Amino acid sequence: MKIGIAADHGGFELKEVIKTFLQSRQHEVKDFGAAVFNDKDDYPDFVVPLAQAVASGEVARGIAVCGSGVGASIAANKVAGVRAALINDHFSAHQGVEDDDMNLLCLGGRVTGTEAAKELVIAYLDAKFTAAERHQRRLEKVKRLEK
Ligand code: RB5
Repeated sequence: MKIGIAADHGGFELKEVIKTFLQSRQHEVKDFGAAVFNDKDDYPDFVVPLAQAVASGEVARGIAVCGSGVGASIAANKVAGVRAALINDHFSAHQGVEDDDMNLLCLGGRVTGTEAAKELVIAYLDAKFTAAERHQRRLEKVKRLEK
């Protein structure tokens, strides 16, 4: 799977860990930055290009990391076609995809440890949208807001 990743300074370290992890699992990774640690950088500069790549289909899924994961999820959800969520637990990591077709996982680099983050990433990437009628109906109601 082609996966896009992005982080500001608050998520930089975890992004690097996740990047190596994804590559070790044979995923193709496109890194939207930051390329280097810069404690003055701003998450929208990296998260928005990632979100646009998810929306356009350039990457199949996205993973964004900032300090808390909050700013990343707020910014990503401004892009039509993106369904981003800040995830801190295993259940939501897969159920968010299965029921809500989540396509951009947000993590808090100052909140979630590296091993827990890897498990969340696996649960997220292994999950598939069930396309059950009730979930599609709910998604359609959300999508109408983008028009
Ligand atoms: C940056 O210091 C921090 O505010 C940012 O990474 C993030 O936590 C915002 O939600």
